[in-house]
Amino acid sequence: VKFPSFDLVPWLNEAKGVKYDLANSAAPPPKIEDLGIDMNKTPLGYANIWGFPELRELVAETYGVDEGEILLSSGTQEATFLALATLIKPGDKVAAEVPSYPPIFNLPLGIGARLIPIKRTFKSGFAIDPDEVERALIAGAKAVIITSPHNPSGRALAEPRLRELCELVERYKSHLIVDEIYKEMMPKPPELARHLSERAITVSGVSKAYGLGGARVGWALSDRKHVKEMRLAKDYVSVSNSTHGEMLAIAALKNRDKILRKNRKHIQKNLATVERWMRSQSAMKWAKPDGATISFPKLPAGVKSMDFGKKALKKGLLMAPGKYFGLENHMRLTYGCQEGELKAGLKVLGKLLEGMN
Ligand SMILES: Cc1ncc(COP(=O)(O)O)c(C=O)c1O
Repeated sequence: VKFPSFDLVPWLNEAKGVKYDLANSAAPPPKIEDLGIDMNKTPLGYANIWGFPELRELVAETYGVDEGEILLSSGTQEATFLALATLIKPGDKVAAEVPSYPPIFNLPLGIGARLIPIKRTFKSGFAIDPDEVERALIAGAKAVIITSPHNPSGRALAEPRLRELCELVERYKSHLIVDEIYKEMMPKPPELARHLSERAITVSGVSKAYGLGGARVGWALSDRKHVKEMRLAKDYVSVSNSTHGEMLAIAALKNRDKILRKNRKHIQKNLATVERWMRSQSAMKWAKPDGATISFPKLPAGVKSMDFGKKALKKGLLMAPGKYFGLENHMRLTYGCQEGELKAGLKVLGKLLEGMN
């Protein structure tokens, strides 16, 4: 196994002097006191390898699946890894969207598969073209992997388009893995992929909409056979999740309405701020996102995302360069942060763009 480099992580992790973080895509985390749990009561030994039964029950109930159809994973990323690794073997073809969150198109390569890129372009509002997916399936793609809402653009597939992709993977006996980690941020989230087809797998977790990235709890929703295979593979990777993390996830799901209501309000307000800012300038163009914390505006012609990213960082503004997502001349602009930080960050961004178009 040889994984391609994942340069977005050191860019975010090692950034110095950040005053305005417009690169963080998570909603603000809840406070422990608001979750109403006593972490002192967390069992410290091994828990149930498949996760606390209470957490499995809560995920089953919340997302409308049976308990045997849930893999509880150490973060969403592990769910994506295990879902794909158990569906394909080295040499198989995998279709993955580009641009995307880097593991979506790099994971297949790491596992030894051959990548068929599915292009999402600014011109099409980052839509997925079903004809392109069908061509990949005709070429033999064993799995199709996408995000919805799309990281980096924040565009979500409406249910009819998602259904169309489900029908395609059914027709060609392939699988559709949809990373839906941002979906619950939307005011009215469209149906989960898992509910639309036996061949669709939803991966998600508590890191973004619930703001609990530190809990390291995610899940894959799939059929029983696939879940058994993923659980077996997890035995070789992380064995079980952290008991502390699962306690936090249980509390988050029990307080789901309260947390999501608060976070959606926060995100909608910030989105309105970014939208106003977008209208106030003409150097950057965007495809308005569908309600998550992420957007992917286009820079003025010829401006390289790394150059712009470095220039912004010198002013204390952290954004993620498009290059890391597989598309130059764009920057990912996120707005999970507090309103004051967002407004100040946008002011800096405006100054940097002055005279550029
Ligand atoms: C699309 C997407 N999937 C997965 C992850 C990672 O999720 P987790 O921290 O739950 O492993 C991220 C984090 O940025 C993401 O953007």
